[in-house]
Amino acid sequence: MSDEPIALEDRAQDGAKLFSPSAGRNKRVVAETLAELLTRNAGVLELGSGTGEHGAALGELRADVVWQYSDPDAASRASQAAWAREGWPAPLDIDLRVAEWWAELSPVDAIFSANMIHIAPIEALMGLVKGAEALTDTVILYGPFLFGDHSAPSNLEFDVSLRRRDPRWGVRQWEDVKHIFGSAGFNADQPRPMPSNNHFVRFHRS
Ligand SMILES: C[S@@+](CC[C@H](N)C(=O)[O-])C[C@H]1O[C@@H](n2cnc3c(N)ncnc32)[C@H](O)[C@@H]1O
Repeated sequence: MSDEPIALEDRAQDGAKLFSPSAGRNKRVVAETLAELLTRNAGVLELGSGTGEHGAALGELRADVVWQYSDPDAASRASQAAWAREGWPAPLDIDLRVAEWWAELSPVDAIFSANMIHIAPIEALMGLVKGAEALTDTVILYGPFLFGDHSAPSNLEFDVSLRRRDPRWGVRQWEDVKHIFGSAGFNADQPRPMPSNNHFVRFHRS
């Protein structure tokens, strides 16, 4: 396991459950979009699940889905366990920078990750793609992206503030992310615009 610190957003707490302000604002629309994209009875592995609110919101709309939470942060995993629906497996300790983090896992119908790739070194994205190659044909990402000259000003400002905190972080260019997935054999759907200048993107391998 890597001993580098990981970044976490500000959170409120009620018992073991953590609440993230941004997840609270967006979880409904995130869950509605995910509910459209996931196949019936899908088994989903979420990477960097944070508080666990996105999975819980999806579970309210799609009781058929089995959601596997994960995060390298122990307090986040405790919160995910508190938000989990009955029958969901215990959250996993997955740090995407760790080589072959997927080695002991079974294939899943989809991998989902929200608001993670910009607030971790690029190795986390590379690890996500490598694991996806081993585990699934479908990857869904949600969060901010840069679109070259058409980037939202708020995302450009966010990018600068992230890089000030850690030069290895930063809002990723959509074209770069698409290229990285493409090199692993995944085709990208057109990014779907969401509130607050976020996007949903789906990658698929046939
Ligand atoms: C900004 S939070 C987003 C949490 C949640 N997905 C959401 O959208 O509310 C970023 C999350 O990525 C996780 N993370 C950071 N570095 C990671 C890594 N190397 N591997 C896996 N998860 C990581 C953090 O622990 C944290 O939970």
